[in-house]
Amino acid sequence: MTEAEGRIAKEEIYQRDRRHVWHAFAPYSEQNPWVVEEAEGVHVVDLEGRRYLDAMAGLWCVNAGYGQERLARAGYEQMRRMPYYPLSAAHTPAALLADRLSGWLGADYRVFFNNSGSEANETAFKLARQYHAQTGQPGRYKIIARYRAYHGSTLGALAATGQQQRKYLYEPLAPGFLHIPAPDLYRRPDGLDPIQYGKQCAQQLEQVIVWEGPETVAAFIMEPVITGGGVILPPPNYLDEVAAVCRRHGVLLIVDEVICGFGRTGKNFGFQHSRVQPDIVTMAKGITSAYAPLSATAVRQDLYDAFKDPSDPYGYFRQVNTFGGHPVSCAVALENLSLMEELELVPRAARMGDVLAQALERLYRHPNVGDVRVHGLLAGIELVANREEKTPLEADLVKRVIAACKARGLIVGRNGDTVAGFNNVITLAPPLIIEEPEIAFIAETLDEAMQEVLGGR
Ligand SMILES: Cc1ncc(COP(=O)(O)O)c(C=O)c1O
Repeated sequence: MTEAEGRIAKEEIYQRDRRHVWHAFAPYSEQNPWVVEEAEGVHVVDLEGRRYLDAMAGLWCVNAGYGQERLARAGYEQMRRMPYYPLSAAHTPAALLADRLSGWLGADYRVFFNNSGSEANETAFKLARQYHAQTGQPGRYKIIARYRAYHGSTLGALAATGQQQRKYLYEPLAPGFLHIPAPDLYRRPDGLDPIQYGKQCAQQLEQVIVWEGPETVAAFIMEPVITGGGVILPPPNYLDEVAAVCRRHGVLLIVDEVICGFGRTGKNFGFQHSRVQPDIVTMAKGITSAYAPLSATAVRQDLYDAFKDPSDPYGYFRQVNTFGGHPVSCAVALENLSLMEELELVPRAARMGDVLAQALERLYRHPNVGDVRVHGLLAGIELVANREEKTPLEADLVKRVIAACKARGLIVGRNGDTVAGFNNVITLAPPLIIEEPEIAFIAETLDEAMQEVLGGR
């Protein structure tokens, strides 16, 4: 904020916001907006001076925590040295970052940079279609995705999204997308062994590919864990099984690591809990710990061979994005990866995830807590009206628990507006620097908030 802006009275800021800002994912309201003004560590401070523990790391993205001076400095220094040049040419931060990402991914990848997770997925879809066309299978255009998963807000990424409540009034979206159910261990058929269930779910994918005609299917996209859709954990063998199905039918596997990547699940990337090395990996958010916008679509190096034919005038990827791979964002990302390595934030997320899982156990004392799912520093608390029948709790009550947390200084999230009847999961994705007492505060506060809202029911 400039000095002049710093002198603007609070009321003035509220007023200007209410008059001119169209907020993301927010119904019209006569209330003043919640203005976040400062942030440090795992805490944010609002315009009224109130301090909150941000157990959502913004929007699942401030992995290294707030107030990391080194990241600010990296951005500043890059701005002074060379603030902008497009990636139709090249610049040093992008070259260094692309190389570094292959190290994090554990194999040799070629990286296309954009600004957002949505664009990273759009790029993956276009690349997958072009890859097939250039390897003699131009009929492969369909993208299979899963119900309940979110893949972005643009017309293609939203078409891949399996959440109808996000699509209503915006259709028709991009054609060529279809969906299969995602596994949900909590709601699997009674008595079914998780491994067997994982196999069955992968067979559903295989059936759809066969029935659609494999020669029409370009790619299958999935998150390692459905995150925004409700932190829905798959069976441990699911990713390995679906990767085998994709391989059998020549379908590319795109893994959306926009939330699961950069340590969130206790590994560099969520897919690394399996033996799979995906064909394409999309990433955003935690790549810069959200200090600057950046996303990446990493394509296995051998697939890139299909883009090398100099005799084909259309044989290269004909996409440019003005700010994609912005040098300032790439410089911030490089510093972010160094910081994460030095602070060992990825193994720390695994360790603190265990602490979080243990702390959240106390929530089971509430009859409305149906399932508590934790995977690294990613958690979902599924609230039900009836534990035996697993009937989802009404979304209004879930919202009231979240408001009661906020009144106590804790920010948690929820899977809002996803699929009908299933907006009943409280979500947690704190910065990976979180300490044990802060985790204890999260569990205590959730416990108190549930007691206040659900206790008398
Ligand atoms: C799994 C997943 N993919 C893609 C996206 C889209 O990313 P962005 O909002 O940066 O476009 C999101 C955003 O939350 C996401 O959670």
